[in-house]
Amino acid sequence: MTSIVILISGRGSNMEAIVKTAQKDAWPAKIAAVISNRPDASGLDFARSHGIPVAVLDHKDFKDRTEFDHKLAELIDSYSPDLVVLAGFMRILTGDFVRHYEGRLLNIHPSLLPLFPGLHTHEQALAAGVAEHGATVHFVTEALDHGPMVIQASVPVLPGDDADLLAKRVLKQEHIIYPRAVRWFIDNRIFIDQGRVLVNPPESQLLVSQDK
Ligand code: GRF
Repeated sequence: MTSIVILISGRGSNMEAIVKTAQKDAWPAKIAAVISNRPDASGLDFARSHGIPVAVLDHKDFKDRTEFDHKLAELIDSYSPDLVVLAGFMRILTGDFVRHYEGRLLNIHPSLLPLFPGLHTHEQALAAGVAEHGATVHFVTEALDHGPMVIQASVPVLPGDDADLLAKRVLKQEHIIYPRAVRWFIDNRIFIDQGRVLVNPPESQLLVSQDK
């Protein structure tokens, strides 16, 4: 039984998609806890209502990033997870933290990495005038929004799009690819070879959506 801890900072819709898929498909996994760095994260309500243990560690209570990350790792490790899933967790993590979870720390970023790391990815995509945009699930390394990519989803950028419309189109795909990546991890199908993720048996690591 794979034990999973999910970290959120807000709405938690990706966490919700993972929890719902886990329940629907009876994953051989347990969501051991949902942890938020913000006491008011609305995603916590969903987790509570699904009987998932929740914990809050408010970063504002700590003097610096190192101290916060240290406590956060202690809290996470108290659940002995095999996998830690960042789902809209809006904190830059220290090198020590990232190294501690090497190979078992996943993130989702709302762009086709390596394009548009950082914040405001939908605005960045519109400003760049790209014809497609999307999202990436990747293992976390010390470089921000970088690391071996597990799966990507692309969506078209359409005339008349604004950042909100584009974000919605991307989010719908996030809710498909994140549960899929986590399931691959649970089923031991993911291998990292020279920085590249291989899925065994092979399955497409790119989902191309034509959704409007
Ligand atoms: C998602 O777009 C995710 O890719 C990004 O932050 C957003 C979080 O949304 N990292 P939610 O909290 O999962 O609804």
